[in-house]
Order: sequence, then structure tokens, then C-alpha cells
Amino acid sequence: MKFYVLFGPPGAGKGTQAGAMVERYNLCHLSTGELLRSEISAGSPLGLQAKALIEAGNLVPDEVVEGMIESKFKSVKEVKGFLLDGFPRTIAQAEALDAMLAKGGEAVTACISLMIPDQLIHERIAHRANIEGRADDARPEVVENRVKTYHDKTEPLIEFYKKAGRYHEIDGVGTIEEVRDRIFTEMDKF
Ligand code: AP5
Ligand code: MG
Repeated sequence: MKFYVLFGPPGAGKGTQAGAMVERYNLCHLSTGELLRSEISAGSPLGLQAKALIEAGNLVPDEVVEGMIESKFKSVKEVKGFLLDGFPRTIAQAEALDAMLAKGGEAVTACISLMIPDQLIHERIAHRANIEGRADDARPEVVENRVKTYHDKTEPLIEFYKKAGRYHEIDGVGTIEEVRDRIFTEMDKF
């Protein structure tokens, strides 16, 4: 099984590129952001716990997302692997992921990192705010906090995956098709 981490700051294009990636490589797309948003719409206890944190641009507790991912690993069959979008997002989550995979003799195949400058994050999220109506896109101070949270808590994963020899950075600036082709060129190697 392949286990790809799709990494990048808010608005980098993870969700946009995921569809083409899962189709080409027969993967299951797991976005912790999307899973959490469906818990919120369903009004579940987990959704109620996550709502205020997400709407303030903060991370939900590590154990919550780790539990969601592990249960999907157990329940999803018939795929060649998983595309993890927005997970892991802290060093603790990355270590938990390694431990989960090690139980089955597996490991992270590669971290595919989409990189864009901070200015472009704001432009893309402002554009998406008018289309998707996500609560965490609406207020500039929340977007600012998501970017800060990314730099403080998530960016250290770049070193983590570099040390593991698993880090593959893709320039996320360009048209959707240009970025997709760069990703395919890299992933065709695995
Ligand atoms: P999550 O849903 O993961 O949000 P995010 O990481 O902030 O990322 P986005 O979904 O905003 O960006 P994206 O990279 O998918 O960009 P997209 O393709 O849409 O997480 C939301 C929240 O949930 C977190 O803040 C946290 O609270 C919680 N959470 C989630 N995972 C967690 C975890 N592991 N631990 C703890 N908490 C967690 O593109 C953006 C826009 O740009 C779109 O409009 C798109 O059309 C456009 N676009 C994309 N590519 C291009 C291009 N090449 N050219 C022009 N426009 C483009
Ligand atoms: Mg997304």
C-alpha cells in the first residue's frame, strides 16, 4: 500500500489537486478538514467540539484527527493506497501516523508538498470564500490565524520528512494543470 501525505499551507491547492491524484493512482482521498466539516454539518458531538476551533482558525486536538484517520485505514478497502490531505499537521500527528502504519509493516511513501507564497494564500482563499462559503474563509483575522498556525505548528514537518528522506516539494504557483503535471511527474516515480 502507498501512503502519501499531501502537504501545504491553507489554499495551496491540496483539495483541488487531490481528485486527479486519487484517480490516476487509485488512492482513497482522506481530508481531515472535509471529515471534520461533515461532522459539523451532521451536528455530532465531535463536530460540536471541532466547530469553534475551526471557525477560529485553530487546530483540533491531535487525538481527534488521529482517531478519524485510523478508523478510515481499517474500513476502506480495494484501493492501492491513501492520499492524506491536511494530515498530519503537527509533529505529534506525524509520529502517531508512523506508529499506526508500523503496526501493519507500512510506512509513509512520500510527502508531496505544494508550496505557494503567503500572499497567494490570501488571494486564493479570498477567491474561494465567495464560492464555497466555508466559515473559516470568511474573516481575514481567521485566515491570518490559519497561516500563523501553519507556520508555527505544521511547517516543522518539512524538516521531519526531509530527515526521513520522504520530502518532495512541488511549486504550487501556476495554473491548476501546470501544478497537476508537476505532481504527476514526481509521483510517477513511486
Ligand atoms: P483544511 O480543510 O485542511 O484546510 P487548509 O489546510 O486550511 O487547506 P484548504 O482546504 O484551505 O486549502 P487547500 O490546499 O485544500 O486549497 P484548495 O485546493 O481548496 O482544514 C480546515 C481546518 O480543519 C483547520 O484549520 C483545522 O482547524 C482543522 N483540521 C484539519 N485537519 C487537521 C489536522 N490534521 N489536525 C488538526 N486540525 C485539523 O484551493 C484554494 C482555492 O484556490 C480554491 O478556490 C481553488 O480553486 C484555488 N486554486 C487551487 N489551485 C489553484 C491554481 N493552481 N491556480 C489558481 N487557483 C487555484
Ligand atoms: Mg482543502
